[in-house]
Amino acid sequence: ESTLGAAAAQSDRYFGVAIASGRLNDSVYTSIANREFNSVTAENEMKIDATQPQRGQFNFTAGDRVYNWAVQNGKQVRGHTLAWHSQQPGWMQSLSGGELRRAMTDHITGVMTHYRGKIVEWDVVNEAFADGGSGARRDSNLQRSGNDWIEVAFRAARAADPAAKLCYNDYNVENWNSAKTQAMYAMVRDFKQRGVPIDCVGFQAHFNEGNPYNSNFRTTLQSFAALGVDVSVTELDIQGASPATFANVTNDCLAVARCVGITVWGVRDSDSWRSHHTPLLFNNDGSKKPAYDAVLNAL
Ligand code: XIL
Repeated sequence: ESTLGAAAAQSDRYFGVAIASGRLNDSVYTSIANREFNSVTAENEMKIDATQPQRGQFNFTAGDRVYNWAVQNGKQVRGHTLAWHSQQPGWMQSLSGGELRRAMTDHITGVMTHYRGKIVEWDVVNEAFADGGSGARRDSNLQRSGNDWIEVAFRAARAADPAAKLCYNDYNVENWNSAKTQAMYAMVRDFKQRGVPIDCVGFQAHFNEGNPYNSNFRTTLQSFAALGVDVSVTELDIQGASPATFANVTNDCLAVARCVGITVWGVRDSDSWRSHHTPLLFNNDGSKKPAYDAVLNAL
């Protein structure tokens, strides 16, 4: 096959990209994105601050722009993200306790109802675990609302759109031998045992000096899949864009039957949130980097 999306589709997987609505008028950007990828994640446009800037006033203008571009070009859409400590609008940042809990479930219901039946998988909860060796939950207003906030979010999500697959998504959880990975694993195992509705786990896979790729990523993917959830690589970028590392990540996903797809976090290096890391598959002029060929050959 001659594109990432078509090559991934040979094994019924997707190869996706994060799309920024503000770049959809850049024809170099859109032509690469349309040609190469068959799944889309909105980089920021479906986050809490974008979709509910004022309490009770939903705004789907930018989210719909990304959604419509994707669907009009034949791509599936991942929803990102409904409950998160970051990119909360000011009104939500100032809430706590039961009022925040109610705002969280109202937000999940409001956004998922707007996109009901249209989103293949939603990142319902993002980044709930702390970094470092504690294995603890991350401190946040959501966490302080009660340790059950994550399962409450998942139950609200299932009720709002029963057809959507519901994912937990996090970063620095690729290395199997890390406390954060093990804490996430224990949570998913507990949810599956107790019937909390969770269908998938997303591994952001932002690899850099602080979170280097380790070949035990395949063990991580296999271990989570064995709990009975789909797994996916949701925000892949690699500092320096080593072709070998991009190939390893691709091969790790292909080795796990329940690894349903890979999403890279932007098109060209200049589109990346960490552009100084030159972490993506396309140069600023739109040409393919060696990492692109490595991924295509691996698929
Ligand atoms: C990033 C976006 O790429 C930036 O444009 C924005 O300023 C901050 O958020 N984990 C996530 C993503 O789940 O939503 C983040 O995206 C990157 C880290």
